[in-house]
Amino acid sequence: MKNNIPVEKNKEYILEITGTGFKGEGVAKVENYTIFVPEALEGEKVKVRIVKVNKNFGFGKLIDFEVKSKDRVEPICSIYNKCGGCQLQHYSYHKQLDFKRQRVVDAIKRIGKIDIKDEGIKDTIGMEDPYRYRNKVQMPVREEGGKIKIGFYKSRSHDVVEVKECFIQEKVADKAIYVIKEWMEKYNISAYNEKKNKGLLKHIMVRKAFKNNDETMIVLVTNSKTIPYKDELIESIRENIPTITSIIHNINTKNTNVILGQKCVTLWGKDYITDYIGKFKFNISPLSFFQVNPTQTEVLYNKALEFADLKGNELVFDAYCGTGTISLFLSENCREVYGVEIIKEAIDNAKINAKQNNIHNAKFIVGKSEEEIPKLIDQGKLPDVIVVDPPRKGCDEKLLKSISKTNASKIVYVSCDPGTLARDLGLLDNLGYKTEKVQPVDMFPMTSHVETIVLLTKENQ
Ligand SMILES: C[S@@+](CC[C@H](N)C(=O)[O-])C[C@H]1O[C@@H](n2cnc3c(N)ncnc32)[C@H](O)[C@@H]1O
Repeated sequence: MKNNIPVEKNKEYILEITGTGFKGEGVAKVENYTIFVPEALEGEKVKVRIVKVNKNFGFGKLIDFEVKSKDRVEPICSIYNKCGGCQLQHYSYHKQLDFKRQRVVDAIKRIGKIDIKDEGIKDTIGMEDPYRYRNKVQMPVREEGGKIKIGFYKSRSHDVVEVKECFIQEKVADKAIYVIKEWMEKYNISAYNEKKNKGLLKHIMVRKAFKNNDETMIVLVTNSKTIPYKDELIESIRENIPTITSIIHNINTKNTNVILGQKCVTLWGKDYITDYIGKFKFNISPLSFFQVNPTQTEVLYNKALEFADLKGNELVFDAYCGTGTISLFLSENCREVYGVEIIKEAIDNAKINAKQNNIHNAKFIVGKSEEEIPKLIDQGKLPDVIVVDPPRKGCDEKLLKSISKTNASKIVYVSCDPGTLARDLGLLDNLGYKTEKVQPVDMFPMTSHVETIVLLTKENQ
């Protein structure tokens, strides 16, 4: 025992898994010292090799089982424990949904200190088929030992695990990997080397429309301004992928973690694909943000509509609106909606989206929500309902304070991070907004990501 740490690196122990971490990993205690065991489930008894020892916690590698959980299933993917993409494939789907709800419950009670009955936090809405749900995939292209590898980064590293079939992506992405790899090998096209900032092909991105004839876009991200043997590539893609409607060259010569560069050249077909959420039509270009699980996006947005409970005469604010998708969903049921978003290109898209759906009561503003919404309020625009859908870090406190001065009767909060959601619900509680209903929605099956939509109502109205 070193420095009172009760386990030693590289030694094996039999541990009882008594808890679950944020990423779905098992948690065991040895004399109050915490050990995280990825791929172990609560209730299991497992043999573990200690691989890392920190001052307050350590990590163990699962070696064998003494007792298995009834919630354990065989992962569908053969590279599941190498690739960093999924964390919960060894959970039954029912258990995944329970895990996500429990994360929300814990955060709301511990961080937000919200006094809400358990029934107020609903069961997670899952998918009928929780596989092949993603409409977009981005995969790094690298070379190792003279072999091209296209796949995903290993967890916490930039080593690429080769992928032949990914069960959360659309099947067309598997085909694209095959065709592009074959073309690279045939014409000796180099893969990118991050350390040297050399080599041609950095990433491939594939996007597919789920509700519009399977329209498919392939984007090749290169470290060069031109692509050799591009006609041969176009021919091969068209021959092997009949649904292809768009082949794009994206130029990114910077040595950066940002995948896409700003410049796109259409090599063949259209500059965008078109897809629908509900009855609304969206043009999706390579750089546009678009929700990656279109089936559950519709579920989420319909929940937003239900929580907003609009009667037709309301003024609505949609803060952090992206390409205006929620604004458009709400527009038909209210008098006017204002969407605010920090990225100009997203607002350009939002305006186009509104126009092509014949929506005239949605207005869009570029800027920070915490600056633009107070300005709207100062101009006398007093909202009845406010939707917020912030990034992981949650809402700016300035925005929440300014909202609370408006007398808006409802706030609909869409969140991709239970921790910051809970913090903001706590702040809103102090500002007079009561958490009424909490609904987790499974937007990312097989992963530990949790999406939640919450209805808050103004007290004493
Ligand atoms: C989770 S996305 C939501 C997008 C959209 N509501 C949707 O469903 O597609 C969060 C958005 O907030 C934007 N954003 C980040 N910080 C912002 C800020 N301070 N003010 C306004 N928008 C911001 C991001 O660019 C991103 O588009």
